[in-house]
Amino acid sequence: MTPAQLNQILADRHPAARALLSPLGERAALPLGIPQQAAQAKDCLRKATIGEITDGAGNPLVLPSLAEHYVGLDLRRAFRYAPQPGQPELRTQWRRRIVEEGVVASLPVVTTGISHAISLCAELFTGPDRPLILGTPYWDNYDNLFTLHAGAPILTYSTYGDDGFYNIAGVKKVLAELEGPATIILNFPNNPTGYSLRTAEVEPLLQLLCAHPHPLCVLLDDAYAGLHYEADVYRRSLYSELVRRADPKKLLVCKADGATKELVFFGGRVGFLTFSADGPAGAALEEKAAALIRATISSGCAASQELVLEALKSPSLPAEVEKVRRILEGRYKALKAALIAEKIPFAPFNSGCFAMLYVQEDCELLRQRLIHEQSVGVIAVPQANALRIAFCSMEEEDIPDLVQRIGRVL
Ligand SMILES: Cc1ncc(COP(=O)(O)O)c(C=O)c1O
Repeated sequence: MTPAQLNQILADRHPAARALLSPLGERAALPLGIPQQAAQAKDCLRKATIGEITDGAGNPLVLPSLAEHYVGLDLRRAFRYAPQPGQPELRTQWRRRIVEEGVVASLPVVTTGISHAISLCAELFTGPDRPLILGTPYWDNYDNLFTLHAGAPILTYSTYGDDGFYNIAGVKKVLAELEGPATIILNFPNNPTGYSLRTAEVEPLLQLLCAHPHPLCVLLDDAYAGLHYEADVYRRSLYSELVRRADPKKLLVCKADGATKELVFFGGRVGFLTFSADGPAGAALEEKAAALIRATISSGCAASQELVLEALKSPSLPAEVEKVRRILEGRYKALKAALIAEKIPFAPFNSGCFAMLYVQEDCELLRQRLIHEQSVGVIAVPQANALRIAFCSMEEEDIPDLVQRIGRVL
């Protein structure tokens, strides 16, 4: 379709999405290019369309040195181009995994990692006059994705309120300052704090977002979905509850997630971007995202998509994921116990992969000292003058020693 046709569909069926589009988002549409023309000719007897090297029947002329390592994969799919929005079967399977019955959702668009899903959102809905709202401290790559790449100003609130829990008053204050379209990222479990909303915190936040008077894109960064260790934590994505009550005249929900952490497949680079729109509006947003994929990387890695699809079809996958979660739960508990034993104060954390320590001295200097004096690597978080500990990458039995070493320098 043309950009004007897509924009009209959104204006008619999802006014919030239409109002949120950046200038680039407005221009995005997939022309009838080579991949689309090739797809239209897929059932033809003689196919001389796309620049893939095949035997004429669609089988790639694979090099054995490559193919012998792709054990159990359909080489026809793994070696040929994936469609711009991703392998259709993978998209359907992922949707089944993440979207609850009866909740409005597009088909997920497959991205090259979760960063890419967030980047597509940044391109579609933010820009110099489309601010992004973030709780501080936040994952450092948001600066690259939104400020460097999309030129969007960042408005912040402190993630923790005075009571040490989620700062809903802070969100309210920053939303009240907006006069036009904006995007807010909600990232639970959070990087770098390891904080997830407690169940009691969810309702006031949903009410606040749904009552916002201007077009708002709520981008749920669910990178660490499922990594919960406490009973009072809200374990689901906010997606379903938010979409059930979101008015499409005002609110668009985008969900970024993927195999990176959920399936422990970091290098596979399989992420997803799902929009709170179905029917023609969902298809229009999928097409805009696909157009930006074609305009940058052309298409994602087919082999990785096949691997994730096979995993999703495996009946043992849930048990495998749960096994990893339990390992992380053990590390989480060990870290909390060790910090308490060493009397090292920490910011509230209840989930995910990280914990954060506020420090008195300069956090970067402390980080350097930890490397040189204690052979300890942690991440400095200058936004909060804090140190981030990734307990996800430590053996449980080594955690007390890690904390003692940190304690010596603090
Ligand atoms: C909060 C958050 N979002 C997104 C990502 C990006 O994931 P990916 O590696 O798939 O790009 C990360 C990775 O560290 C993250 O911490």
